[in-house]
Formats: sequence, C-alpha cells, structure tokens
Amino acid sequence: MGRPRKIPIIEEKEIAEIDESLQLCNLRNMYDHFFKTLWKLKMDLDEMKKRDEKELVTKKGVGRKPKIKKETQISHSIVFSGFRRGDGASTMSLNFSYAFAENSANSVVLIDGNLRDPVLQNQFIMKRKKGLYDALQGNAGIQDIVNEIISKKFFFISAGQQTKNPITLFESAKFEVLLKQLKEKYDLVIFDSAPLLGNPETTLLANKTDGLIMILNADVTRWEVAKSVKNDLEGANVRILGAILNRKQFIIPQAIYKFL
Ligand SMILES: Nc1ncnc2c1ncn2[C@@H]1O[C@H](COP(=O)(O)OP(=O)(O)O)[C@@H](O)[C@H]1O
Ligand SMILES: [Mg+2]
Repeated sequence: MGRPRKIPIIEEKEIAEIDESLQLCNLRNMYDHFFKTLWKLKMDLDEMKKRDEKELVTKKGVGRKPKIKKETQISHSIVFSGFRRGDGASTMSLNFSYAFAENSANSVVLIDGNLRDPVLQNQFIMKRKKGLYDALQGNAGIQDIVNEIISKKFFFISAGQQTKNPITLFESAKFEVLLKQLKEKYDLVIFDSAPLLGNPETTLLANKTDGLIMILNADVTRWEVAKSVKNDLEGANVRILGAILNRKQFIIPQAIYKFL
C-alpha cells in the first residue's frame, strides 16, 4: 500500500500554506463503508429516539402522542474518541465527516473538541481564528467560529485556544446552548474528542450528545481496558454507538479471510 493520499479539500494554490507533516491520512477507499455505517447509525438513533420518547410518555401515563420531529429535522451529535493519543480518533472523525458531506444531501459540522491537544486546525485553511474555546468562554458567537469548507455541506469549528482544564467548559450552560444551536443549523454534528483514558471531559461530552464511537487501535488497545472503559461509560449513561478497529493489519491476503 502506498503513502496515504491527502484529503483533497484544500485548493491547490493553498497547499503551500499547510504544514504537510501535520496532515492526517485520507481513508478515501473506505468512504463507502463509512457512509453506510453512518447511515445505519442515523437509522438506529432515530429508532432509539422514538423508543425513548414513547417510554417517556408511557411513564408519565399521558395519552398524548409523543412529539416526534419530522425526518428532515432530525439532527444527530456524535463523539469520536480513542483510548490513547494516536489511536486515530481525529483521522476517523475527519474522514467520517468528509464521507458524509460527499455522499449525502445533508450538512455536517466537524468540531475539534479536543481542547487539550487539537490537531484538526492543521487540515484546513480557515477564515475564522476563533473556535470552540472562545465560544464557550462567551467571547464568540456561532457565526464567528464556523468555517465553511464545502459550500452548504461541510463546516468546521476549530478548538480555538488550547486549555488544560476543559471540563468546566463542557459542563457550562454555554455548551448546552451552543450544541442546541449547532443541531438546529446542521444535520450532523461530529466532535473529535480527547482520548478516553485520563480525560474525563470526553465522557461528559459523550453524555451530552447522542453517543460515542470508540476507536480501538488493533494490537495496542487491550481488551480488558476496553471492557472496563465501556462499563464506566455505560455507568455514566453514555450511549456507545459503535467501535472502529483501526490500524488492523491483514497479514495474509484478504480473500483468504473469507474462508477462516
Ligand atoms: N488507519 C490509519 N492508517 C494510516 N495512518 C493512520 C490511520 N489512523 C491514524 N493514522 C495516522 O496516525 C496519526 C495519529 O492519528 P490521530 O487521528 O491524530 O490520532 P488521535 O486523534 O487518536 O490521537 C496521524 O498521523 C494519522 O494520519
Ligand atoms: Mg486527536
């Protein structure tokens, strides 16, 4: 396999301004798969939401019909996180968002929610210098932080300033308001977040969104660790939407796997 290609969302003339060593790899050959997975996720989420709303009504004992949004109005928010730095959460969130923007009529906003160690700002030429941090500090509105990467389809919000203590920011009422605004404006809201181990804000963030996609690093993430983190997440009422086994090496020809 050759060197991974760069994500082709930067105009040719602008490439010189981007530091190539900071570019995440392009998993374009997997876009079909990503898109199918995302679509299935969306359907599952819609089902879950309907079930939740029905349960709520039954619990209350109210005979009224639950208020279910129209299909076109349903938006989702999903968090991507690995276990440790380097597992591939930023790569997956970027490729997933881009696959969605390319393959669907809906809009997606990708947010660098890793306020401790942001990397996604290196992927785009951005008009807006401010990002999530600034909005959560009350120093910027949504219009000051959103970068339009593909017209009407793909939007990006950088982390803005880096911070070692992002927990209070995600706990704040400002975060709730911002998330609500984003969900009203875009069909899919994707957060790239800090690794699950040692960064409690990811659990907090996942709890406030529709759920989490965990990135496991094949041959590195130990299953005992994954299992224990999964239990903790479920204990914290986080919906685990799925897991991606990243960097899986196929040591024998792929066709042979079918017979195993
Ligand atoms: N499946 C993959 N194939 C090749 N390179 C990958 C893959 N996943 C991640 N990488 C590379 O590994 C590095 C770390 O990935 P990154 O997405 O930044 O991890 P994380 O966000 O979990 O810390 C990046 O340079 C990225 O391009
Ligand atoms: Mg990352």
